[in-house]
Amino acid sequence: MSKTLYITTAIPYVNGVPHVGHALDYLLADVYARFEKAQGIDVRFQAGTDEHGNKIFNKAKNLNIPTEQYVAKNAAIFQDFIEKLNVKPTDFIRTSNPDHCRRVQKIWKKLEKHIYSATYEGWYCSGCERFVTDKEYDENLGICPDHQTTYEKLSEENYYLRISDFKDQIRNAIESDAMKILPEFRKKEILKLLDDSPDVSISRPKKNLSWGIPVPDNDNQVMYVWIDALANYITVLGYPEEDISNYWPAVIQFVGKDILRFHAIIWPAILLALDLPLPKTILSHGHVLVNGQKMSKTIGNVINPLDILNKYGVDPFRYFFLRHIDTFEDSDFTWDRFDDAYNNELANDLGNLVQRLAVLSSKNSISLSQHLIDETKAATIEDQEYVNLMNSCKFSKALDYAWQKIKSLNKEINDRQPWAVAKTDPENAKQILLDLDYKLLEANSLLAPFLPETVSKISNVFGTEIGPGSPLFPKQ
Ligand code: MSP
Repeated sequence: MSKTLYITTAIPYVNGVPHVGHALDYLLADVYARFEKAQGIDVRFQAGTDEHGNKIFNKAKNLNIPTEQYVAKNAAIFQDFIEKLNVKPTDFIRTSNPDHCRRVQKIWKKLEKHIYSATYEGWYCSGCERFVTDKEYDENLGICPDHQTTYEKLSEENYYLRISDFKDQIRNAIESDAMKILPEFRKKEILKLLDDSPDVSISRPKKNLSWGIPVPDNDNQVMYVWIDALANYITVLGYPEEDISNYWPAVIQFVGKDILRFHAIIWPAILLALDLPLPKTILSHGHVLVNGQKMSKTIGNVINPLDILNKYGVDPFRYFFLRHIDTFEDSDFTWDRFDDAYNNELANDLGNLVQRLAVLSSKNSISLSQHLIDETKAATIEDQEYVNLMNSCKFSKALDYAWQKIKSLNKEINDRQPWAVAKTDPENAKQILLDLDYKLLEANSLLAPFLPETVSKISNVFGTEIGPGSPLFPKQ
């Protein structure tokens, strides 16, 4: 049986359209999946949509659309977005799906030993759908920095998950890297947060939240949206009705920095309560900013990913977000940066190189055999520096590394001047071109997880019949 591996992405709320931030989760996971699949590993890759909670319910109500219809429509938009990004999850879960709801209720029953009920009074942000601590309230001067809304005082009868039962185990797992938090500086933040983490409220009175999964055996309580959402990672595999040990624990869970705390504290507590192993890695990516600022409808600086995809196509999109948006740090999107990357790197560095080599090879009757192409694919996986970068999830660095190869090939072709050599020594020119073509195909395989369409176009151009082909990246 082939080796299996499971990776997951955060499931977006469906109260809005996809934005570039959502693309990051998908793209990072997709790169990793393609890299592992190329090594013969059976990769299970989950994506999905988070469909419960008041935000979604209210949006549908304002639009006068039945909630089920509203979430179905938006889930389809997310699925379409994933396809447009050429991201290939194996599973797509919607949290309003009856299988998921039934399984989450069964999970709740299994958690009961660690659940208690109590009345809670505290500050609540309806945007985050969570209570904040008094310390957070004071630090933020009573206003949620993410939603720019004032916290409300809320008093509720709730069920709680006793996080305190698991704090030591969670701390040990994080400290020892048994559950690795990437990057390292986020690991430190989480360890600090863990000490102060209170037990978490995991239900809401039905009168305050109707669009959610009912708590079993209590008609007045509905599950807090985060409990139902986090459970998606295992219900999609069939838990608790099916044996998930082939896939669980996930090798990497991809999430944004704003939701790391849910994944690194509450989620492990749920898993430990269920007696399930913890994920091997939680990778927290940074945020996409615009001119150093958060994207917001109020500021009017929201970048619509479809504008980029429609104008430039999928690979330029993937290229920019995987190379120029750092895997771990916040990074800036600006149209200028995007245009620069497109024209100077994709069109000049790569497009021109392919074009020049294709034309020269064709003129000099070079024929690369399929054997050589296959050999290149196998050989590159031994590029240890690249493999190390990929294995440690430094994806933007791995793409930098592959790009350096493209740049040095451009230099090499200029230095060796095969067109000049051909005039006096055609055999030698052929050797030079074969060598350069071979190196291009090597670099091409390093690009494969990042730019799948481009890479297969390049392979086709340098197939058994070499022809100039059409320009890969026309100047914009
Ligand atoms: N529904 C929850 C996730 C539940 S996972 C069990 C949620 N949804 S979200 O739509 O707000 O965010 C989905 C993902 O997009 C998260 O990983 C989040 O960090 C990411 N991003 C949202 N805005 C972002 C940026 N501006 N930049 C990068 N990613 C950001 O949270």
